[in-house]
Amino acid sequence: MSVTVDPATDSTGASVPSVDVAPETQPIGWHHRHLLDVDGLSAADLDLVMRTADAMHEVLGRPIAKVPSLRGRQVTILFYEASTRTRVSFEVAAKNLSADVVNIAAASSSVAKGESLVDTVKTVEALGAQMLVMRHSVSGAPYLAAEVFGGSVLNGGDGWHAHPTQALLDLYTMREGLGSVAGRKVVILGDLLHSRVVRSNIWTLTAAGADLWLCGPATLVRGFEAWAGRGAAAGRRFNVTTDVDEALRDADVVMALRIQRERMASGLLPSMREYAARYGLTRDRLALARPGALVMHPGPMNEGVEIAPDVAAGAQSVITDQVTNGVAVRMALLYLLAGTHGTRGSDAT
Ligand code: CP
Repeated sequence: MSVTVDPATDSTGASVPSVDVAPETQPIGWHHRHLLDVDGLSAADLDLVMRTADAMHEVLGRPIAKVPSLRGRQVTILFYEASTRTRVSFEVAAKNLSADVVNIAAASSSVAKGESLVDTVKTVEALGAQMLVMRHSVSGAPYLAAEVFGGSVLNGGDGWHAHPTQALLDLYTMREGLGSVAGRKVVILGDLLHSRVVRSNIWTLTAAGADLWLCGPATLVRGFEAWAGRGAAAGRRFNVTTDVDEALRDADVVMALRIQRERMASGLLPSMREYAARYGLTRDRLALARPGALVMHPGPMNEGVEIAPDVAAGAQSVITDQVTNGVAVRMALLYLLAGTHGTRGSDAT
């Protein structure tokens, strides 16, 4: 027998899911079976993720940081690329929700014998997976998985394309520090070209009303000007510049991105030393931003290249908060997506 529990309300009167109980017992209003990117999420969806993450944050502050809401569900984590933060925080998040967790490292699975992605996904489903968290070096791979998987697919990063849970935890961390990002100047600085993090952050930050500035050397921002033009035409505040001083001046948030040496074709940068000298986030450059501006980095960092060690460890840095908040946000997403299983009207986005 299912029991419907009235969600509580927060100080704004908005409903907050009662995350101690199974999600399908509640009228939550989340309709996305998969989380492949954030481009299909409305402002109301983003707000629901943030409020649910607040509820999970409260759970994490309890003496026993665990709720039974996903008891009996199997979450399989299938990563074809290296990861520390995303993989571990998904595992911690699923365990905090009392789910059963299966971890598969592609390198030590039958993938190494040539098994296809489709066969691997069908195999993990046959072994009981109901939610599949995956990372893949090929853009679009989670979309293919979602076509053949009967449960929910959560994208833990695909190629250069998308990193939806990173963008959502970044938004959560900014809201925690600023209250709201609406009208705030948010700068993302670094290797945009190879970054799935920036491609997802563009959607969430402009949907939340931020004044978004992307900055890097010309070779690493190419393609984003056209995107910014389309965004501006759609009423989103979105700027691209190669001028680091212009970008940083009066910023409320500065997020440095890793120089992705492993994806860097020759000729894009003269040298790491030159990049650090011209674009590295140093204390002097940070002084151009507003006093107390938040310093962020999705990790892993190349300290001394895109960010100076004293800035990364400085008083304005919320980099470890991003990591910690990743658990609450991923708990929220697992919970919301699990609530669509067996319901009508859920879509495939
Ligand atoms: N930010 C991020 O995706 O880090 P990992 O590669 O360690 O998961």
